[in-house]
Amino acid sequence: MYAAFRSIGAYVPSRILTNAELEVMVDTSDEWITKRTGIKERHIAAEGETTSDMGVKAAELAIERSGLSKDAIDMIICATISPDYFCMPSTATIIATKLGLNKVMAFDISAACTGFVYALSIAKAFVESGMKKNVLVVGAERLSAITDYTDRGTCILFGDGAGAAIISQTDKQSEAIIDIHTGSDGAYADLLMTPNGGSGSVHDELDREAAGCFMKMKGNETFKVAVRTLTNDVVEILEQNNIPASAITHFVPHQANYRIIKAVGDALQLAEEQVVLTVEKYGNTSGASIPMAINDIYESGRLQEGDLMLLDAFGGGLTWGSALVPFSGKGIR
Ligand code: ACO
Repeated sequence: MYAAFRSIGAYVPSRILTNAELEVMVDTSDEWITKRTGIKERHIAAEGETTSDMGVKAAELAIERSGLSKDAIDMIICATISPDYFCMPSTATIIATKLGLNKVMAFDISAACTGFVYALSIAKAFVESGMKKNVLVVGAERLSAITDYTDRGTCILFGDGAGAAIISQTDKQSEAIIDIHTGSDGAYADLLMTPNGGSGSVHDELDREAAGCFMKMKGNETFKVAVRTLTNDVVEILEQNNIPASAITHFVPHQANYRIIKAVGDALQLAEEQVVLTVEKYGNTSGASIPMAINDIYESGRLQEGDLMLLDAFGGGLTWGSALVPFSGKGIR
């Protein structure tokens, strides 16, 4: 029994937040943001539009494109750090109900920007073991809800959106997800965190009001660990599977910063057309970034059946993960 990456879908809210608008909000410039991150704009959810609302829209597309009936879905995993509700219910159960699926196993995972790769590895394990047949994996984020728009170190980076994929059982080895590597190191937890609100935080009501539950990031230190970790991670997964970088059709990295992506791409000696870039128009959408990027190449007709994708992610935790994934759906010509 193998696990196949059957289909992809995504949703992007219509409101665009440009660098020019951010220039008015904080002490920054379009030139600085473009040069240091590659980001030009990001999308922001409408008022009242939740993470689950966006996840549902991405999921509906992924289900439709898989050719499966909705009722064939037997598990839903949602990767998010901006859930509809802080502790419970999980965003995955809300997505399930909005899809009209009220009996399936559904849960969230928290691995920040690596969330989609972590969720993919869980889906793969369940499908390969025979416990589930068709798993809906959603990466959905309303990061604007946990972003401090007075902090120029973070607010220029993040955006909202969702992506979703269907992972299905197959008996064809050629369709199988080849390998997924995942790791974490909590010693670096303080590089990227939402310090308040959890049971481990020390705060009084005033602190909570002042600091809220916004993301804090030591950007430059995170940058260095990101480049090192992402590069080591992809080199390792390719070597262990005896696959040369030239065999990768699409390198789909987490879209955090153009400079990070460029450094990893250069280390692997990848050609420009192998590297998928969406950071310019979506910014960093954390757990949603990789499926949104895959959807981009799908909708532009670049992703075809049998194409080999190399996914690579890094995020708060710290967490990281990479995956070698053939696309087993029908591409758009
Ligand atoms: N506009 C203008 N100036 C700024 C801005 C801004 N938006 N932000 C910082 N600066 C200033 C700093 O104050 C500093 O000024 P100084 O030299 O006078 O002290 C200078 O620019 C350089 O700051 P750095 O932090 O060193 O800038 P850097 O080149 O590292 O870029 C950035 C910052 C974009 C955050 C980068 O470090 C980065 O992308 N880090 C990694 C992010 C990441 O991958 N996170 C993990 C995934 S996210 C997740 O898991 C949710």
